[in-house]
Amino acid sequence: MLGNFIYYNPTKLYFGKEVHKNLLDALNGFGKKVLLVYGGGSIKKNGIYDTVISALNEAGKEVTELSGVMPNPSLEKLNEGIKVARESGADLILAVGGGSTIDYSKGVAASAYYDGNAWERFWLGGKEPDADQKIIPVGSVLTLAGTGSEMNGGSVITDESNKLKVGKVFDDRLMPKFAILNPEYTYSLPKNQMVAGIFDIMSHLMEQYFSDDDDSTTDYLIEGLMRSVVASSRVAVKDPENYEARSNIMWSATWALNTLLKMGKSGDWMVHMIAHAIGAYTHATHGMALAAISPAYYRLVKGFGLHRFARFAKVVWEVPTEGKTEEQLADAGIDKLADWIKEIGASSNISSLGVTTEMFDGIVGATFLGGGYKQITKEDVKQVLNDSL
Ligand code: NZQ
Ligand code: ZN
Repeated sequence: MLGNFIYYNPTKLYFGKEVHKNLLDALNGFGKKVLLVYGGGSIKKNGIYDTVISALNEAGKEVTELSGVMPNPSLEKLNEGIKVARESGADLILAVGGGSTIDYSKGVAASAYYDGNAWERFWLGGKEPDADQKIIPVGSVLTLAGTGSEMNGGSVITDESNKLKVGKVFDDRLMPKFAILNPEYTYSLPKNQMVAGIFDIMSHLMEQYFSDDDDSTTDYLIEGLMRSVVASSRVAVKDPENYEARSNIMWSATWALNTLLKMGKSGDWMVHMIAHAIGAYTHATHGMALAAISPAYYRLVKGFGLHRFARFAKVVWEVPTEGKTEEQLADAGIDKLADWIKEIGASSNISSLGVTTEMFDGIVGATFLGGGYKQITKEDVKQVLNDSL
C-alpha cells in the first residue's frame, strides 16, 4: 500500500426498508425549509414521493419542490435550480432519485450562493467554493444503484450547447450529509437502467483497479466487490425482485465510488472520460456508454499493465491459469468481461447508442485525456471508438 492520504467521509448511511423512520431521524438537525429535488416523475409512480412527503410533513418541514431533473442534467437546468434554491432560502436540499438528481442537487448546493459564473469556476475551472461561501447541505434518498453519488462529492453536468459533459468532484462539504438506501426502491427500475447501473459500478471498480502495481489492500477490496457485483448481477437480471441481489448491488455501488477505494491509488478514468464525451454527443445512458467501449479500451491498454490484467482474469473471472502466458490470461479476462456485458444485456457497441463516425472528431475533442497504465492520445481515443462501433 503506497501513497499518502487522508481519509474522511461525512455521509451517514441508513440502509434497509425503514425509510420513513430513517428519514425522520436524518431530517433532524436541519432547518425548516427543504428543497425537494427529483427527476421526471418515477418517484410519483412507485410511491416513493408519498413516503418522502409524509416524513417531511411529520418532521414539520416547509417544502419547495424542484422537479424535472433529466438524466445527464443540463447546465440550463442547473441555472434554473440555482435561482429556485436561493429564492426558497433552503436549509437542506433533499435529492430523491438516481445519480443525476443527486449530482444536480450538489451542483445547486455549491452554486446557489456563489455570485459569479458557477459553471466556469467549479466545472471548467475545477475550483472549490471559498471557505466562507455558504453551501446548502444535501441529503439523499437513492432510487438507482450505480453512480455512488449518494456518498461522494461528484457532480456531472452537461453543457448541451457546447457539447461538454464535465464531472466536478467537490470536497467533503458537498458530500451528502446522509443517504437513505432502500434496495426495494430500485425494483421499479426498467431493466436497462438496472443493468446500466450495474455496469457503472463495475466500471468504477475497474477504473481504480487498473492503475499502479504495488501490493495494495485496496486492490483486494476491489476484487471482492467485483466478484460480488458479477454474482449479484446474474441473479438480478433473472429475478429483479431478489432482495439479496439488489441489496448487494446497492451496497457495492456505494462502496465502489465513495472515496475509500481511491486511497493509495492513482486510478485511470479514461473509460469515463470517453463515455462522458459520447454522452455529450448522444445523451446515451451513462452505464451503457461505459459498457460499449470498455472491452476495446482495455484491449488497447492491457499491454501496459499485463500483470494486473492477468490477475483480473484469474481472481475476478476464475480463468484457469495452467498453460497460459500472462498475455493470454489478460485477453481471456477481457473476453470474459465482454461476455458478461452481453449476458446481462448491457450495450456492446456505440452504434446502438447513436454514435456515428461523423461524430468521432467531436467526441475525441471533448475527451479529457489522461490514463492509468497508459497516457492515451487522441489517436487512441479514435481507435477505441472505431473498435467499439
Ligand atoms: O427522472 P426519473 O423519472 O426519476 O427517472 C429516472 C431516469 O429516467 C429513472 N429512475 C431512477 N430511479 C428509478 C427510475 N425509474 C424507475 N424506478 C426507479 N426507482 O432512471 C433514469 C436514469 O436516472 P439517472 O439518475 O440519470 O441515472 P444514474 O443514477 O445512472 O445517473 C447518471 C448520471 O450520474 C453521472 C452520470 O454521468 C450521469 O450524468 N455520474 C455521477 C457520478 C458521481 N456522482 O460520482 C459518477 C458516475 O460515473 C457518473 O458519471
Ligand atoms: Zn460512472
